[in-house]
Amino acid sequence: MRITFLFALALTAVFVDVVLSSDRAHPRRVQPRSSTARLGAASHITNQAERDASYWNEFAQDTLKDKIQQAAKLNTADTANVAKNVIMFLGDGMSVHTVTAARNLMGDSSNQLSFEQFPYLGLSKTYCIDRQVADSACTATAYLGGVKANYGTIGVNAKVKRYNCIDGQNPANYVESIAKWAQDAGKDAGLVTTARVTHASPAGVYAHTANRDWENDAKVVANGCSATDNVDIARQLVEWDVGKKLKVVMGGGRRNFINTTVNDEEGLPGLRTDGRNLIQDWLKDKEANNQQAAYVWSKKGLSLVDLDKTEYLMGLFANSHCPYNGDLERSNYKLVKPSLTEMTEAAIKVLQKNQNGYFLFVEGARIDMAHHDTRARKSLEDTVEFSRAIERARAMTSEEDTLIVVTSDHSHTMTINGYPYRDLPITGLSNALADDGLPYTILSYANGPGFSTTYNDKTGRSEITAEETENVNFEYLATVPLDSETHGGDDVGVFASGPFAQYFTGNYEQSNIPAMMARALNIGPFANL
Ligand SMILES: *[C@@H]1O[C@H](CO)[C@@H](O)[C@H](O)[C@H]1NC(C)=O
Ligand SMILES: [Zn+2]
Repeated sequence: MRITFLFALALTAVFVDVVLSSDRAHPRRVQPRSSTARLGAASHITNQAERDASYWNEFAQDTLKDKIQQAAKLNTADTANVAKNVIMFLGDGMSVHTVTAARNLMGDSSNQLSFEQFPYLGLSKTYCIDRQVADSACTATAYLGGVKANYGTIGVNAKVKRYNCIDGQNPANYVESIAKWAQDAGKDAGLVTTARVTHASPAGVYAHTANRDWENDAKVVANGCSATDNVDIARQLVEWDVGKKLKVVMGGGRRNFINTTVNDEEGLPGLRTDGRNLIQDWLKDKEANNQQAAYVWSKKGLSLVDLDKTEYLMGLFANSHCPYNGDLERSNYKLVKPSLTEMTEAAIKVLQKNQNGYFLFVEGARIDMAHHDTRARKSLEDTVEFSRAIERARAMTSEEDTLIVVTSDHSHTMTINGYPYRDLPITGLSNALADDGLPYTILSYANGPGFSTTYNDKTGRSEITAEETENVNFEYLATVPLDSETHGGDDVGVFASGPFAQYFTGNYEQSNIPAMMARALNIGPFANL
């Protein structure tokens, strides 16, 4: 047991070394753009050309061309039928393992989540420019803007390093998102998330920043940057072109909209230090333009909004993130706060009024956060709710005109192991004992806070009981001690239903996804002109 522990520590040391060495300057090699060069990109040497957005745009054009040719061969290309709407569902951190395990949580391994019944499935490669294992910021730029970027940055190309205030505020480095392409084409756009609406994934819809943490002015200043020159993410949502035009903004995160000296509707303070009340400013701006706008902060408030008459809807249902769905259902929260499914339904009702169609981004954000805590059960519960939201969206829309794409930004380190009997709950112990005579859980992580569940100072590996695993806050076994479990670097699934869903088969770069969605909508730089 002691040996296992030391081995784990040795692994940590190796890992830390790898992380550090990846930050050193590598010799650069410019690769020619061809399909063999793409294979060559698997090398650890970063291609200088990757820093240009045009590299990724051309890559996406090539992939799209391949897909169109494949579809023509299969005789499934319906060139007459353009998608009117696209709904992108992003299960944050929803690895293939997570999807598989959620089937079991629903009762049995033979189950399918709603989106697993979609006719087309592919795999997306999630690495970012400077990391093999990505975060939610650089991936948002990839799956919404079509460009791979640096870890921690949003809506900017890879010329911008994280925290670089100068390069990050240079519009020449901005990467446009599909929400902008939709707005420019006369469609509406909106976002729904269970995270703060200024968190990394939703920010990819409307923001450009060198640091995902700059959700309010105080955070910008804390990093030694000017809050005037580096407009924080909440202000970009309310003041900048794309954010301002979003017809639906729903999720959590009131604290980034109000000052530290002000409390929100639930009595919790803000984080801003510039005295602004961005919720009031958002409402005033809509009023000044004679637009029908509603701001709500509770489930009741949302139920009172006339969605048929409302042009702009902002719902901020928590000071920070919305609750985990499992906690929502187990508590009185369900009386006060809407579920992801309820928010999604309201969003579609507002957006479907536009005859030109819409782009809607919906994030099941907390699948990821529960994994970081090695609280696998909560992650799976959120995955099931995410699946419900997709089922509702598919039922409310037509497969003839609405493309639904379901994917994830990155994986996590959770595995399903131990040859458990078919009828065992996946959240519990495996039937066999390990070589040390102690039980172990079916779900476990490569690293994370669950390390302290796994080991103790006296005897080495701890003896865990079935009862402990029934606690919703149980932290699953983890080999390497880390405060927060890390993301994983393996590919994630892409599930598609609706017009041009056939494009989404195969294995491709995450940054090719917006090209295929935009082609289906016939908008932006990937339109069929
Ligand atoms: C906002 O908060 C800052 C610091 O927390 C404070 O100095 C300032 O007076 C507040 N502004 C307003 C208008 O209340
Ligand atoms: Zn994460």
